[in-house]
Amino acid sequence: MNAKIALLPGDYIGPEVVAEAVKVLGAVAQKYGHTFNFEEAPAGCTAIELLEDPMPESTLDVCRSADAVLLGAVGGPVSGGKFNNLPGHMRPEAGLLKLRSSLGLYANLRPAVLFDELKNACPLAERVVADGIDMIVIRELTGGLYFGPRGRKQTEFGESAWDTMIYNEMEIERIARVGFKTAQLRNKKLCNVDKANVLESSRLWRSVVERVAKDYPEVELSHLYVDNAAMQIALNPKQFDVMVTENMFGDILSDIAGAVTGSIGMLPSASLADGTFGLYEPVHGSAPDIAGKNLANPLATILSVAMLLRFSLGLSAEADAVEAAVQQALTCGLRTADIAAKGEKAIGTLEMGKAIVDYIRA
Ligand code: IPM
Ligand code: MG
Repeated sequence: MNAKIALLPGDYIGPEVVAEAVKVLGAVAQKYGHTFNFEEAPAGCTAIELLEDPMPESTLDVCRSADAVLLGAVGGPVSGGKFNNLPGHMRPEAGLLKLRSSLGLYANLRPAVLFDELKNACPLAERVVADGIDMIVIRELTGGLYFGPRGRKQTEFGESAWDTMIYNEMEIERIARVGFKTAQLRNKKLCNVDKANVLESSRLWRSVVERVAKDYPEVELSHLYVDNAAMQIALNPKQFDVMVTENMFGDILSDIAGAVTGSIGMLPSASLADGTFGLYEPVHGSAPDIAGKNLANPLATILSVAMLLRFSLGLSAEADAVEAAVQQALTCGLRTADIAAKGEKAIGTLEMGKAIVDYIRA
């Protein structure tokens, strides 16, 4: 197959982990006889410096001309630094939102899996995770609080500011279908998360999910309020198979689900549009503190490549091979610093990337 992949390495450790993922794609191409063409474009702080725009139109065009996009990470240090004093629409995060909405990437898939080999990194009690964690959060990504009307105005009590959580039936229905279809391919359990006891948008959300459920009778549907869902992830993550929720709730819950696996450096994600187009990126951020030191874990990006192969290119054997290589690296005891237990030897970004490439070639 001949495919074009847009590369948005982004900031700090972004380029380091993307470089390793590209080597993995190279190994896959060679082994299975595919041709992957790459085109790189700036995003985030890097793009602000080059073009004074966190998501330039030229970068969006490169993405639009591709079959899939691989993103490293965007963003600068959390405090201090020149990128924190920029107006809201110029921040690297605004660039990410523009990318999501311009490319129609409304379905964000965030798997949270606890690898057996990394159980020691899991912050939950052993008895809670004895049977592992294998869930996926499906987050609506182009609506809700992130994209609703917002503003500020002066009042007699000082300035006031607002954001609006707004959804229409079309937006809810299409993400609900992604949830049901994903559940169909897994353990057939879908948990809808909302705040229907308080929010009007959640009441509409829940009624649409229930309507759509009639088309998927083999999927067992349950509902949780978002506060309880957060608690349940911490108390008993094994109960979950697929979770579907709106943008802001999904932002928060996917962090919790990721955190309980204990290794954010291992978590991939996919953001999908209708059809096969998608953007793939590690869940972790740009980690300015460890950038340039060959310390970053490339496995989240490499696992994102597996999702890219599976969802956008339809290459499931190739995706399996990448995941098997990651599993093999863990089984053989290879660890980057973030997943090494106390006293365990850690290898660097480059060495981990090379190991995965070698396993794929073998
Ligand atoms: C995420 C991040 C982003 C979000 C930020 C960086 C805008 O937290 O992808 O989860 O809130 O969506
Ligand atoms: Mg987040």
